[in-house]
Amino acid sequence: MSIIQEISQQIFWVGGNDRRLERFENMFPIPNGVSYNSYLIIDEKTALIDTVDSSISEIFLENVKDGLAGRNLDYLIINHMEPDHCANLEAIIHRYPEVKVIGNAKTFQFFEQYYSTDISANRVEVKEGQELSLGKHTLRFYTAPMVHWPEVMMTYEVSEGILFASDAFGSFWALSGNLFFDEIDHKEIFMEEARRYYANIVGRYGMQVQAVLKKLTGLEINMICALHGLIWRKEDIPYIVEKYDLWSKYTPEKKGVVLFYASMYGNTEHVVQNLANKLAKRGVRDMRMYDVSKTHPSYVISDAWKYSHMVAASPTYNMSLYFMMDSLLKEMSVLGLKNRKVSLIGNHTWASAALKEMQQIIGEMKNMEIIGTPLDVRSTLKPEREAELDAIADAIAASLLEQ
Ligand SMILES: Cc1cc2nc3c(=O)[nH]c(=O)nc-3n(C[C@H](O)[C@H](O)[C@H](O)COP(=O)(O)O)c2cc1C
Ligand SMILES: [Fe+2]
Ligand SMILES: [Fe+2]
Repeated sequence: MSIIQEISQQIFWVGGNDRRLERFENMFPIPNGVSYNSYLIIDEKTALIDTVDSSISEIFLENVKDGLAGRNLDYLIINHMEPDHCANLEAIIHRYPEVKVIGNAKTFQFFEQYYSTDISANRVEVKEGQELSLGKHTLRFYTAPMVHWPEVMMTYEVSEGILFASDAFGSFWALSGNLFFDEIDHKEIFMEEARRYYANIVGRYGMQVQAVLKKLTGLEINMICALHGLIWRKEDIPYIVEKYDLWSKYTPEKKGVVLFYASMYGNTEHVVQNLANKLAKRGVRDMRMYDVSKTHPSYVISDAWKYSHMVAASPTYNMSLYFMMDSLLKEMSVLGLKNRKVSLIGNHTWASAALKEMQQIIGEMKNMEIIGTPLDVRSTLKPEREAELDAIADAIAASLLEQ
């Protein structure tokens, strides 16, 4: 039995959810699951916008069949060639062999790299701004290169002002029957997941997101339908667009501190707890703290995107930076995080390397300002060096106040 929902006149959500998958892209934990959204427009012509992951093929194909209610599928729009949305392209083309497949030059190049079905008779290449009439509905295609793959397009439905935004505006989130952001009360939990998705999946492509936001200004947008997570209706669009604007400009959402440490025996951890205590006494609120060996980096990165300040602390391990801290900082660097204030604490027993390596990674990132004098602890922080930690706390507190 199919599970479909009309989201606007003759436009149906025909996607599905996966709550079993442990990690998205085999990398990011998804305790709240994930949805793969796909949309079907029924007009004089019928059009399917993107498909779904292989994990939910069965329900998806049934949804499409029931949504079409005996009609043929005229168009298949490919906004994004990533396999989580393309696993069912061939199945759709085999079921509806007359279907016209809409994409751009890059879309078809990638299609050929992934699949072997010959679609030379089906393919229709579109260019920026080109329109396709379905009857009452008209689709207009906008390219959105590198948000977050090169072939990405967004499809704008002109008559109702609906933006099919590809992975942009998406989130880790399995849907619980309610498809719309305005239908849930636990918005804060959802937004944490939306930010974690943005920072980790799209984070590196802030400039390209900015370019798309500029391109779309002036368009009347009444609904944003992403490929994952909840759908945005008109009243909430300014809210999410403002978040996207901040995130993609690498501007912190909030003045505050996220502290994260690596620690084997608890000595580095102790220093960080001590620092947080000192900061709290100086009036700093809403601090977040993570053990990088325990918490998946995607959560730390999400908070690094949110807050203005961060504190990183790590011991030396085999003349290197402790691997999980090394990997986390490199990930942040690859994602292009910038414009943050950073305080650093190292720890070693006989020959120091951690602090130097953290300084090097942070130093290569853009507009990262070091706050306070980096502290290199020798095994444990002795009372005679407490003043150095106090100085870091003073510097962070002062910097938070001055912003
Ligand atoms: C396998 C291993 C390798 C280490 N390698 C170094 C090293 O190369 N240089 C150094 O100064 N300390 C090294 N250390 C010592 C730690 O940096 C030191 O114990 C530190 O105080 C640990 O802090 P923690 O209690 O927060 O884990 C190593 C420790 C372990 C267990
Ligand atoms: Fe994607
Ligand atoms: Fe995706």
